[in-house]
Amino acid sequence: MENAVPMKQSRTIQSRLVLPPDTNHHLSIFGGKVLAYIDEVAAIASMKHAKSEIVTAAFDSVDFVSPANVGDILELEAIVTSTGTTSMEVYVIVKALNFRTGEQKITTESFITTVAIDSKGDPIPVPKIYPETEEEKVLYEKGLLRRQQRLERRNNSK
Ligand SMILES: CC(C)(COP(=O)(O)OP(=O)(O)OC[C@H]1O[C@@H](n2cnc3c(N)ncnc32)[C@H](O)[C@@H]1OP(=O)(O)O)[C@@H](O)C(=O)NCCC(=O)NCCS
Repeated sequence: MENAVPMKQSRTIQSRLVLPPDTNHHLSIFGGKVLAYIDEVAAIASMKHAKSEIVTAAFDSVDFVSPANVGDILELEAIVTSTGTTSMEVYVIVKALNFRTGEQKITTESFITTVAIDSKGDPIPVPKIYPETEEEKVLYEKGLLRRQQRLERRNNSK
């Protein structure tokens, strides 16, 4: 694919500690805190891909699969899974690690749309991507369908 770059170029991994002020009375992390972490790691992945400033246009989906508890280590992984002309779809998976037992579980999965912008805040084109690993191929192949669903949702909400 001409001018396309490997998906792995955007892959970004971050670790965070779940601290008491970030948790509710069950001592599990607030969803809003996880969203802020997801927003940041998705932004970094898209900046690495676009090589430009970006803005978050939409949280397309967020699934809180299981709680993360105080003292857990959150491991966030983000990768650009689909591109439009100026927009990028970023997949973020968040796992909670209990460092004492080594048990790791998925806590949140999310798809986010970001848009590359210039210094005036106007959208600018981004490179295409291509997948290499089996895991990347699965995420990439369903990207077109998710884009159609996104555009439909956007049109219906106007
Ligand atoms: C995102 C933003 C730059 C889009 O600007 P715009 O003038 O609507 O530009 P366009 O309509 O040309 O859209 C640009 C791209 O973004 C996509 N897009 C815009 N809004 C979207 C939305 N709500 N959901 C999904 N995609 C969206 C378009 O489909 C288009 O993609 P493409 O170029 O790959 O085809 C603009 O709405 C903005 O600045 N929003 C605020 C962003 C922000 O401040 N985020 C921080 C959190 S508040």
